[in-house]
Amino acid sequence: SERTLVLVKPDGVERGLIGEIVSRIEAKGYAIERLELLKARNDQLAAHYAEHEGKPFYPPLIDFMCSGPLVAIIASGEGVIAGFRSLAGATDPTAAAPGTIRGDLARDWGTKVQKNLVHGSDSPESAAREIAIWFPES
Ligand code: GTP
Ligand code: MG
Repeated sequence: SERTLVLVKPDGVERGLIGEIVSRIEAKGYAIERLELLKARNDQLAAHYAEHEGKPFYPPLIDFMCSGPLVAIIASGEGVIAGFRSLAGATDPTAAAPGTIRGDLARDWGTKVQKNLVHGSDSPESAAREIAIWFPES
């Protein structure tokens, strides 16, 4: 079935929210296929965020993403790409609806980049590309 790449960003790991986030994915009925705690390499982040290179938030985004360990997850299930984006909520935690991961849990006040706890692939093409970056052997 469909697969997506989820990252629990360093703010989620630091705040002890790995379990909460994985619970929400499982409770929705998606399967966890792979899960790894790792320190992101620069080349992985440059590939992952290539579309944002040159934007003002790119340098703080890369700094933030290498500031601590993150958790890379392959989740699967029917419609999981759009479904996880829906669970995550809007990119800006201030705008994210209650009931979503970002709306309920993200706190980015006073930071240069939106510390919004999670990443989720935004299309089947992105999912395939991102899974190859974080799980090259799969
Ligand atoms: P990801 O799932 O992390 O890719 O988030 P997204 O798809 O909801 O957002 P997008 O791909 O547009 O941006 C990637 C990340 O860059 C976001 O998750 C934020 O951490 C950061 N970001 C994006 N837009 C802005 C912005 O306008 N200002 C700031 N400060 N950070 C941003
Ligand atoms: Mg994105």
